[in-house]
Amino acid sequence: MNTEIQGDGSTGESRVSDPITIVIFGASGDLTHRKLIPALFVAYAQGLLPETFTIVGVARRDYDDEIFRGMVADSIKEFSRLPTDEKAVQNFVGHIRYHKGDISNSATYMQMKGKFEDVETYPENRLYYLSIIPSLFEVAVESLQQSGLISPPSSKHWTRVVIEKPFGKDLASAMALNAALLRHLDESQIYRIDHYLGKETVQNILSFRFANAIFEPVFNRSYVDHIQITASETVGMESGRGGYYDEYGAIRDMVTNHILQLLCLVTMEPPGDLSAEAIRNEKVKVLNAAKLDIREDISDAACRGQYGAGISKGNVHIKGYREEDRIDSNSQTETFAAMRLKIDNWRWAGVPIFLRTGKRMARKATEIAVQFKVPPLQLFQHVECEEDVCDITGIKPNTLIFRIQPDEGIFLKVGTKRPGMRFVVEDVNMDFSYSGTWNKSLPEAYERLLLDTLHGDSTLFTRSDEVEAEWRVVQPILENLEKLKPYAYPPNAWGMPEADWLFHGAEGHWRNE
Ligand code: BG6
Repeated sequence: MNTEIQGDGSTGESRVSDPITIVIFGASGDLTHRKLIPALFVAYAQGLLPETFTIVGVARRDYDDEIFRGMVADSIKEFSRLPTDEKAVQNFVGHIRYHKGDISNSATYMQMKGKFEDVETYPENRLYYLSIIPSLFEVAVESLQQSGLISPPSSKHWTRVVIEKPFGKDLASAMALNAALLRHLDESQIYRIDHYLGKETVQNILSFRFANAIFEPVFNRSYVDHIQITASETVGMESGRGGYYDEYGAIRDMVTNHILQLLCLVTMEPPGDLSAEAIRNEKVKVLNAAKLDIREDISDAACRGQYGAGISKGNVHIKGYREEDRIDSNSQTETFAAMRLKIDNWRWAGVPIFLRTGKRMARKATEIAVQFKVPPLQLFQHVECEEDVCDITGIKPNTLIFRIQPDEGIFLKVGTKRPGMRFVVEDVNMDFSYSGTWNKSLPEAYERLLLDTLHGDSTLFTRSDEVEAEWRVVQPILENLEKLKPYAYPPNAWGMPEADWLFHGAEGHWRNE
């Protein structure tokens, strides 16, 4: 990991030197349109792509090079993070080609092999990006291998394959997919992408923890009361997503990848160095120690919800999940999930870890809140009255909040004496915000991750044992879905009250701020 953010919001990444062919399977899809093409364009505009490169879009649609180039130009204009200059866009689309074909048909790969004989146009260092439905991952890799489109790791030219999520549907299918991929590829050639790891604020968790001597000594069971990780979204089902989502749900869509990655970064031990293997070894270790905190029953440790219908402020009907397009009207798929974990190691034994995610929630917010214990002696208690109700208020615990998005930053809540004659201690924020400090747009996650694949840096990608360890954490929930029927919650809410039961009646509660 050697990236630096420059004052202009670009990364301090060096230019890729190898001539490359980037093949995007699923070229007519939303991810290609919104994320991959704009990210590649930004890399190009910043001079980070090599002089010789070709991007090949593969899909079934009846396009040709010209039509696809027009679509690429539109994607850039609509979604590029940087201002677009027409000349740069035209130069960039000159590197684009289209290959029409069905991913499940071996003829597609044989025809591609024929085209790729022209190594001037299609350089032999190849990145295959599988932005396709998961059921086709295996067939795509197998067909690439059988058509001679994969070079062995020892060869002069490299082959790398990027696999989008979801990687499997449970532990068994993730293991089977790993085994299938590893029949045709070496682990070093596989890049399992989790776009959260490309976010600047997510990478900063490690820097914050291990570059500052003052926090690490208190990141353990002696000082931390509990940790909460929240990824809440206000969106429901984006158009066209219903089919996929109803099959997967919030646990598989968000927890077994993004949220567990956040958990790893905030709880792992310091790696010996910043190499991909050292960092990933530590992540696997902490994932293997993480377990659902089941005391008597699975419902002690997990809870599922599904948003119902409602009325917006403007009196407009908000569809319930089951009314959404391509969703089964009796669906039992969760759009909200909350769980309580424990980490069985010396650092975290006895510290509850709460995770939650949901669609149609009150606010879009992804954050990690590390709540510390209150001081052993309550010196500063005072009486606080609201109208005629008075309460004895003690000191509130310090909380360290990593705000991943939006309002990216890090905040520390500390108690401070309120100015006045009495000793009244009040919570204030010590904060660092990216926008206040750098005032520049942060690189998009896909910009960073695509460049890493081209440089052959797999630090921010999930290793085979890591992905299996992620599934292992949630597997008891997947085996007990019947017992964990989703509770209904209203749209634009923080989920449902049942999620508070995970605190087991103790003082804590979800941070709904
Ligand atoms: C994706 C999920 O991986 O992440 C989506 O499939 C979710 O359901 C999205 O909306 C959230 O990403 P971000 O970057 O907006 O937090």
